[in-house]
Formats: sequence, structure tokens, C-alpha cells
Amino acid sequence: MKTLKTKRLILRNFSESDAFDLFDYAKLETVGPNAGWAPHQTVDESLEIIKKFIESNDVWAVELRSNHKVIGSVGLHERMTIQGEKVKELGYVLSTSYEGKGLMTEACRRVLQYAFEEEKVQKIKVAHFLGNEKSKRVIEKCGFEYEKEGTHQSIAYGPKLSKVYQMTIENYKKIGGNK
Ligand SMILES: CC(C)(COP(=O)(O)OP(=O)(O)OC[C@H]1O[C@@H](n2cnc3c(N)ncnc32)[C@H](O)[C@@H]1OP(=O)(O)O)[C@@H](O)C(=O)NCCC(=O)NCCS
Repeated sequence: MKTLKTKRLILRNFSESDAFDLFDYAKLETVGPNAGWAPHQTVDESLEIIKKFIESNDVWAVELRSNHKVIGSVGLHERMTIQGEKVKELGYVLSTSYEGKGLMTEACRRVLQYAFEEEKVQKIKVAHFLGNEKSKRVIEKCGFEYEKEGTHQSIAYGPKLSKVYQMTIENYKKIGGNK
């Protein structure tokens, strides 16, 4: 995947040597369950997930410039539409110790810029589980528009009620891009 840079972050491909950094946050109860997956039990489990990320080629590792640690990830997954539109779904997690500093909003805005301006994606969707106020704020700050309440099939916990949002390329331009 193309490496993307922001003031404080580098979004780059995962490599197998990131397994310890990933495990550091993927083992936390505060991270995976809010995104629909169970906390990792071992570093090996994190390594297996990294192998999947490398294969699917649609998840960036979020590296903090100041200490070169991988502190989270952002995924941009291709979704089919009946109308044949180029639609992608955004997903993200951040290590709990780094929350509340605007880092994930910074990362997502850069990904939106890349998706709309370089990949020419037409629409990006994003969803959070009911009650995930932090994620809701990231979505709002990025400028997404609320679409509907729906049921999201989570990997570990089955169907869960979620709020779904979207941003079209027209809306992206209207809000002035990655300001
Ligand atoms: C959601 C997550 C990515 C947010 O990352 P972050 O870097 O802390 O996000 P930001 O700092 O850009 O924004 C967080 C916002 O939530 C707000 N917030 C924090 N706790 C809150 C709460 N309990 N209720 C309401 N808002 C809250 C912060 O004040 C901030 O908003 P502000 O800038 O208006 O003050 C991170 O918490 C995370 O990975 N959580 C676990 C996994 C997850 O939920 N992933 C998303 C799945 S949809």
C-alpha cells in the first residue's frame, strides 16, 4: 500500500516484525471488542493477523513518528455495490494509551484524502457500534454524514447494532478535503 504521512504519523504496510507492537494493543479489552474482534491472547495470534493484513493489502499500520512504534491500524476495504459504484469501508483501531490526542482523526483524514483524490473512490462508508462515542466523534470530525442504524456482523460477537455513516466524493470536496 502507498505510504501516507501526516504531521505525527506514518501510515505504511505492516511487516511481520510489527507483531509485538500489534500485540501490545490488540491484547487490550478496550480495543478489539469495540471493533468487533476478541483481544489477542498471544504474539503469535498477532503475527497471524499481520500475515492476513499483508495478504489482503488493505490495512495500514499506523506508526507514531516520535517513537516509531505501531500504535494502531486503518483499513480501507473494498465493498461491492449493486450500482457498480466504487465504494470502500473505513475501519480503525488505536492503542488505548494514545487516545484523545486527535491521532486517529489525523490518520483517517489522510486516508480520505488518498482515497478520494488518488484512488478516485466514489463513496466511503464507516460504522460504529451503538455507544462507541469516541469512534462517533472521529467520524463526525472527519465530516461523514449519518446514514442509518443497521446491524453489523462482527467477527467475534455476531450481529451488533451499529450506526452507519457515509461520505461521497462530492461531500468530500464540499467540506474542503483534508483541511
Ligand atoms: C475510537 C478511537 C480510534 C479514537 O481514537 P482517538 O485518536 O482517541 O480519536 P480522536 O482523539 O481523534 O477523537 C476522539 C474524540 O472522542 C472524544 N471522547 C473521548 N471519550 C469520549 C466519551 N466517553 N464520550 C464522548 N466523546 C469522547 C474525545 O474528546 C475526542 O473528541 P474531541 O476531539 O472533540 O475532544 C480509539 O478510541 C480506539 O481505537 N478505540 C478502540 C477501538 C475502536 O473503537 N475502533 C473503532 C471501531 S468503529
